[in-house]
Amino acid sequence: QELQLNLEQIEKGGYDHFMLKEIYEQPSVIKDTYRGRLLADQGIVRLGGLENYIEKFTNAQRIIIVACGTSWHAGLVAEYIFEDLVRIPVEVEYASEFRYRNPIISEKDVVIAISQSGETADTLAAIKLAKSKGAFVYGVCNVVGSSISRETHSGTYTHAGPEIGVASTKAFTTQITVLAMIALRLAKAKGTISQSDFMLYLRALELIPNQVEEALKTDDKITEISAAFKDARNFLYLGRGYNFPVALEGALKLKEISYIHAEGYPAAEMKHGPIALIDEQMPVVVIAIKSDHYDKVVSNIQEIKARKGKIIAVVSKGDTVVKEMADYVMEVPHTMEALTPLLTTIPLQLLSYHIAVMLNRNVDQPRNLAKSVTVE
Ligand code: G6P
Repeated sequence: QELQLNLEQIEKGGYDHFMLKEIYEQPSVIKDTYRGRLLADQGIVRLGGLENYIEKFTNAQRIIIVACGTSWHAGLVAEYIFEDLVRIPVEVEYASEFRYRNPIISEKDVVIAISQSGETADTLAAIKLAKSKGAFVYGVCNVVGSSISRETHSGTYTHAGPEIGVASTKAFTTQITVLAMIALRLAKAKGTISQSDFMLYLRALELIPNQVEEALKTDDKITEISAAFKDARNFLYLGRGYNFPVALEGALKLKEISYIHAEGYPAAEMKHGPIALIDEQMPVVVIAIKSDHYDKVVSNIQEIKARKGKIIAVVSKGDTVVKEMADYVMEVPHTMEALTPLLTTIPLQLLSYHIAVMLNRNVDQPRNLAKSVTVE
């Protein structure tokens, strides 16, 4: 027993939990994921598994992304990136819904399956279904040699290393890293991106690990915020555009490990329902970074304040407007809008982690949840 404990402590590398260790590993695993694939100076993105299938993608009438849980959220981020950069229509599907509803799919479609474990039963079944209809299936997995990585026609591995905490953190950011590289490679091949924008993206992606490092430095501040809100019964998470999926993921993290009810919503949909819930008891986490939607998000914040909701805002470094209005802010560095999910996710991971620790929850192994879901 004692030996077992010590071993586990060693594996946690000085951190109290695997989840915290994995959150802090993100700068290095994002770098591991693009190393050798992204050569910003030379203007090259090259993914071994993709090179032979570029035309499959660029000729596709549609890309369908299938996944579950956090991987599905990475798929939603990818939908925005792909449509923006590659101009191919994308649909993101819960694997469990896709497989049971007689989907319209043919050899003109490309399916991307995203899975950390590579063993999720619904995702695996969705892949088999898509293959049986003639679609080309590309995998984005973390576990090498996993069932999904074997079942797909080709794919790209994330290099997150083993993820032990049940709540996914580093798998999510490395999935987005891979998906962004795929989008950039295809945009280049299809001619839907200018050379100058392409170079801007490559350089911006290369900077992400250092910027994640910087975002992690706000941890003390986030611990303070967590203490202020740990007894809340409900949380609302709002984001727009590229950060709408981040709002969903932030809410999922909180639910999973703290057991506090949390909902993620596109900020503009607030007026169609969730606004009815807002009172002085309701913390609202708003992703309000500088982007095309900034002014809109600011007005959402005003609406929440008018109803006495408490605002915890994720803002761009140096922001002054939202800082004035919010009860608390968590700063992240600037990057190109399509890459912001890689940064805005970080404070939300830490927020859920600290709240769960303060509530004495079993952070690494939350009740009723499993790391990989091999049942249907
Ligand atoms: C479970 C895990 C989640 C994960 C989801 C999909 O629910 O607890 O963290 O996001 O499965 O798993 P996959 O391995 O397919 O990414």
